Amino acid sequence: MQVGGEQPRDLLSRPLRDLRVSVTDRCNFRCRYCMPREVFGADHAFLPRSELLTFEEIARVVAALTPLGVRKVRLTGGEPLLRRNVPALVAMLAGTAGVEDLALTTNGSLLTALAEPLRDAGLRRITVSLDSVDPQIFADLSDTKIPLQTVLSGIARASSVGFRVKINTVVQRGVNDAGLLDLVDYARSAGHTLRFIEYMDVGSTNGWLLDEVVPAVELVQRIGDRYPLEAVGPAEYGEVAKRYRFTDGAGEVGFVTSVTQPFCGSCTRLRLSAVGELYTCLFGTTGYDLRTPLRDGASDEELAAQVSGLWTRRADRYSEVRGARTRTLSKVEMSYIGG
Ligand code: GTP
Ligand code: 5AD
Ligand code: SF4
Ligand code: SF4
Repeated sequence: MQVGGEQPRDLLSRPLRDLRVSVTDRCNFRCRYCMPREVFGADHAFLPRSELLTFEEIARVVAALTPLGVRKVRLTGGEPLLRRNVPALVAMLAGTAGVEDLALTTNGSLLTALAEPLRDAGLRRITVSLDSVDPQIFADLSDTKIPLQTVLSGIARASSVGFRVKINTVVQRGVNDAGLLDLVDYARSAGHTLRFIEYMDVGSTNGWLLDEVVPAVELVQRIGDRYPLEAVGPAEYGEVAKRYRFTDGAGEVGFVTSVTQPFCGSCTRLRLSAVGELYTCLFGTTGYDLRTPLRDGASDEELAAQVSGLWTRRADRYSEVRGARTRTLSKVEMSYIGG
């Protein structure tokens, strides 16, 4: 199949490059900023299996969207590795023409067993969410019985089978910010790239407060005081993290400044929920149903035409206009559309 042709631009002239695919809304953690247990407790109604896109359907969507410009595919969730046989999906996507980058975001709890099969299936990159290297703070934050050591072992396993692992840390003032230099020490010594993410007001359940956001400038200062830092330019257009290198050569650290310095101007991301709805912004309130046409027998070209139309009408820039009014919108949960 030819990859190229008409590639849509949205109303702010942004191309479509990344597709983030949520393969499940379930998770074995209950991070307070994402799936607080009061809301996502024992009787929470997660999606039934029949509602989820099958792997074949996901692969079809990806193949239909590469002609529109999609080059980067990231599997997320929920916790994507809770879905059975994710390596099979990876193998299907790795073989799709036009997919240049295939990555996975995970909480790391199942990586020890799955790192090698994922690599063998053709996965290129893994990002692990890890907010603390203190076992007690980790347990409190992620509200799970899975010990920190399981995650650390999973990360080590992923490294040892050849992945370059990135660690994502959501920073909340008064919650995990006291231990950030320990995370830096861990990442430097293990050779992983660490990225700090400003706590965001995604979804409607985490009780977000601006006071809990630690601005990236403050983090750069704090980390730079211990290990001198030097800014480096973006590796690619639309990269979300501002990158710095340790001047002693011990790798890099990044900062995702979604709250204090939004990056909507170069946002090339489209999200596909586990049930096949498209969201043109992480802070979307409604999705575009692609599952119905998919199951009604639409061709790849028809699917692409619908998505092209959706992208052409896109004007989202939530993080740039965040304010009192936007904060009260009924936004979709991140575990549903995928981080
Ligand atoms: P790389 O390709 O490795 O640079 O990763 P990525 O930036 O595509 O994905 P990753 O999942 O590592 O993104 C890091 C974090 O940035 C996410 O977990 C979100 O918290 C945040 N983030 C990612 N995309 C967006 C976005 O479109 N908008 C906002 N506001 N935040 C985002
Ligand atoms: N703010 C910032 N990042 C968040 N994530 C989940 N919820 C939030 C939030 N409210 C991050 C997770 C993970 C990725 C999928 O999204 O920590 O790294
Ligand atoms: Fe699960 Fe990730 Fe949400 Fe934590 S942030 S509850 S690990 S999906
Ligand atoms: Fe993209 Fe929306 Fe995030 Fe802005 S707020 S960077 S438009 S996903």
